[in-house]
Amino acid sequence: MNKNFITFEGSDGAGKTTVLKRVFETLNGSLETPVILTREPGGNRISEMIRNVILDRNNEEMDPKTEALLYAAARRQHLVETVLPALNAGKLVLSDRYLDSSIAYQGGGRQIGYQAVYDMNQFATAGLMPGLTIYFDVPVEVGLERIAKHRSVDEVDRLDVETKAFHNRVHAAYQQLVHDNPDRIVSVDATKSIDEVCTKVLTILDDYLNRSVK
Ligand SMILES: Nc1ncnc2c1ncn2[C@@H]1O[C@H](COP(=O)(O)OP(=O)(O)O)[C@@H](O)[C@H]1O
Ligand SMILES: [Mg+2]
Repeated sequence: MNKNFITFEGSDGAGKTTVLKRVFETLNGSLETPVILTREPGGNRISEMIRNVILDRNNEEMDPKTEALLYAAARRQHLVETVLPALNAGKLVLSDRYLDSSIAYQGGGRQIGYQAVYDMNQFATAGLMPGLTIYFDVPVEVGLERIAKHRSVDEVDRLDVETKAFHNRVHAAYQQLVHDNPDRIVSVDATKSIDEVCTKVLTILDDYLNRSVK
C-alpha cells in the first residue's frame, strides 16, 4: 500500500473525470506536496495501443480473459511509465481508475470472478495498492443517461454497447468492493451536483492527507 497513491472508481458517467479535473486544480494550488493527475491507460503509447485493441468494436470475438490480461498489461505500463516514477519522486498521485475497475468490469461484468482478476493483476502491479480509493456511486441508469446525453455515436465503444445486465453486474461488484474494503474505499453519492461532489471529495482528501501524508 502506498499512502501517496489515491484512486478514483465508479461506473462510466459517474463523474470521475469531471470532478477530478476540478479537485486537481484545487489541490495543486494548496498542497506543498506536488500532485499529479493521471488516468488509466495513462496516455502512454503502448497502453493506448492496447486499449484501442480492447475497445475496438470489430473485436467482438475477444475472450473475457484476454480482455482482462490486456487491461492488466496496459495497467503495468502506466504504472512503470507514470505512477511509480511520480511516487518515487515523493509526489501525490491521483489516478482515474485502477485495479478495482478490472475487478468490477472483468471480474463482475464479464463474470471471470473477483478473486481471479485480483490474483491475475498481482503480477502486473507487484501488489501496489492505493492508500485511499474514492468510489463515485451512481445508479446504473444515471451513469448510462449521462453518457448517452454527452457521447456521439462515433465515440461509442465496445463496453458502451454492453447490456444493462452487464452494467448491473459491474455496479454490484463495486458495491461488494466497498463492503469488503472499509479501510481503503470511501463511497461518495455521485448523484449530487458536480459542486457538491467536488466539495465532498475535497473534504475526504483533506481528512486523509491530514491523517497520513506529511
Ligand atoms: N454530478 C453530476 N451531475 C450531472 N452531470 C454530471 C455530474 N458529473 C458529471 N456529469 C456529466 O456526466 C458526463 C460524464 O461525466 P464524466 O466525468 O466523464 O464521468 P466518468 O469519468 O465517471 O465516466 C459528463 O458529460 C459530465 O458533464
Ligand atoms: Mg472518465
